[in-house]
Amino acid sequence: MSSLTIAMPKGRIFEEAADLLRQAGYRLPPEFDDSRKLILDVPEENIRFILAKPMDVTTYVEHGVADIGIAGKDVMLEEERDVYEVLDLKISACYLAVAGLPGAKITDVAPKVATKYPSVASSYFREQGEQVEIIKLNGSIELAPLIGLADRIVDIVSTGRTLKENGLVELERICNITSRLIVNPVSYRMKDLQIDELVERLSLVVDGNEEVNL
Ligand code: PRP
Repeated sequence: MSSLTIAMPKGRIFEEAADLLRQAGYRLPPEFDDSRKLILDVPEENIRFILAKPMDVTTYVEHGVADIGIAGKDVMLEEERDVYEVLDLKISACYLAVAGLPGAKITDVAPKVATKYPSVASSYFREQGEQVEIIKLNGSIELAPLIGLADRIVDIVSTGRTLKENGLVELERICNITSRLIVNPVSYRMKDLQIDELVERLSLVVDGNEEVNL
């Protein structure tokens, strides 16, 4: 049986994703959690993991160099990718919101909005009938209103700490976000049994965890 390649997001989603795989019975070695290696083979499970930047997971899966990936719904919304979204893993829950400085008066015809999600932000403001100018940044979005680069931001809110510690307030909530299991369409045809088994095992864990959390 050919092995499965799974693209894992490095960073904050990683730990929860690894936990979920372990709960589903996959034996991941301890060095898995604390390694700088970007490719980790787990021969006893016939799985190869590649560790990617969260924003890049969909690229690896779309190009078929990973059969499966774990990607945030934020990334899925931002980029239209030719991948199947097969399971809501219900981990790394957060939401996308519009935020800004409290009481800031916006006089511009097209206020500036800084974000890592230009496409989501444009569609959101278009639907609201608001004209804005989008400024794409790659991180530390909360800086933008503080130093006068933008009037507002569209960004992920998790605990709300980053907004609070930088004196910003949430203005509108756009949508909830969780991590999703995504699959390359060709892999799904070629490795359907292996992939179905993984999806089945993970969905049992997700459903079980949900019951515990109710
Ligand atoms: C994300 C997001 C916010 C922050 C929200 O940034 O863009 O800045 O986390 O989390 P909180 O509500 O729990 O404070 P991340 O740390 O991923 O880094 P980035 O600024 O490089 O995008």
